[in-house]
Amino acid sequence: MISRHKILQKENARTLKLPMDQLQFLQQCAGFESKVATLYHHYSNLFADDESLSMLFKKTAVEEENHAQQFHLAIRLQGTGMTAVKTDVTKASANLKKLEEIVERLTVSTPFPEEALDMAIRLEEQVALLHMANVVHFQDAGLKQLFEAMMAHDNGHVTMLKDYREVIRMGKSVMEFY
Ligand SMILES: [Fe+2]
Ligand SMILES: [Fe+2]
Repeated sequence: MISRHKILQKENARTLKLPMDQLQFLQQCAGFESKVATLYHHYSNLFADDESLSMLFKKTAVEEENHAQQFHLAIRLQGTGMTAVKTDVTKASANLKKLEEIVERLTVSTPFPEEALDMAIRLEEQVALLHMANVVHFQDAGLKQLFEAMMAHDNGHVTMLKDYREVIRMGKSVMEFY
């Protein structure tokens, strides 16, 4: 006899547009974005004395929170309008787990500004491809546009982090000059 639980499970599986492991991966992506946001808030607090650096990290943290929200939206839709997650979920999930551990360690570290910028830039370069608009194949063109628009809204924080690092480096070389 098939249990009520089994029937419910089956019905659930039918209403999900993406398989469970893919939805779980989106959940992991959301969690990761939140962890990166926490790291940037930590940097923002750490450099509270330097108002522009502190604000830069705060702004970047808020953008990462938006990325997490985009994944949460996709999860709430349970994959409606999406056909598949593009990557090999098992591999991507293992890689993300390693990155998560690095981010957690960084979140309790106290680097100098230039080091913090360096870490953030390296992190951003590694995870740029992991955003919602890139991770999922869309069936619904409108939904695809929506996610791409949210992505475009994120106005290149890597460039801003790099610019600020350049300012610090130039400041240093000016000091050496005198
Ligand atoms: Fe992000
Ligand atoms: Fe980012």
